[in-house]
Amino acid sequence: MIALRTDNEIERMALAGRLTAECMQEIAPMIRPGVSTAELDRAAKRFIVDRGGRPSFLGYHGYPASLCASVNEEVVHGIPGPRRLREGDIVGIDLGVILDGYQGDMARTFAVGAVSDAARALIDAAHDSFEAALAVMIPGNRLGDIGHAVQTLAESRGYGVVRELCGHGIGHDMHEDPEVPNYGQAGRGLRLRPGMVLAVEPMINAGTWRVKFLDDGWTVVTGDGSLSAHWENTVAVTADGPRILTAADS
Ligand code: MF3
Ligand code: CO
Repeated sequence: MIALRTDNEIERMALAGRLTAECMQEIAPMIRPGVSTAELDRAAKRFIVDRGGRPSFLGYHGYPASLCASVNEEVVHGIPGPRRLREGDIVGIDLGVILDGYQGDMARTFAVGAVSDAARALIDAAHDSFEAALAVMIPGNRLGDIGHAVQTLAESRGYGVVRELCGHGIGHDMHEDPEVPNYGQAGRGLRLRPGMVLAVEPMINAGTWRVKFLDDGWTVVTGDGSLSAHWENTVAVTADGPRILTAADS
């Protein structure tokens, strides 16, 4: 079942989304050579709890932390720990918040200090493919338009688009219907309607689109060890066009 949110519900989701984005803003300046991913996790948890929210990832199917920190060839779901970030790394930070019964979910990939041109270009492609998807999130378009937009942009730059993991509907639960693939055919699939709220999250690999699942039960890495970048926002489809709910100023 795909929920359609009322204007009032979307405003409440925007508050959850805003707290998510503010938390991302809070930890962004900490992302420097020498910081451990556990330190980022602790700071995020404190920020969220202090503002009356709950970290949605913590305890989700047993997940042990409040954010995911996925370094270099890690695609998503890297578990925070003692690992210290190093100059030249890239790190995907994925964060989720529950506030007033509603969820926000977002991810950004950051450069740690100075990174290679190749790493920077990959981060830009993840961001740009999100923006390409956002541009087609208007009522009457279809789910396939979103995936097609991501795939076309990323593949035109020679990157691989992860297929085993998708975006998703979001609301009271982090993962609701529908699944939102990052590949697909324009003009196909579910019709987008005002009130749909989707977490759109391109995962873009420098090499093959294939991934491997590590035996820690969580970490997903690229099949060939190449770099990966992730960019995610919670987006409402409205009659006036797409609205990013995970924005610090929404
Ligand atoms: N933000 C991720 C997603 O979009 C979820 C992280 S999985 C968790 O699907 F277990 F860490 F919560
Ligand atoms: Co998500």
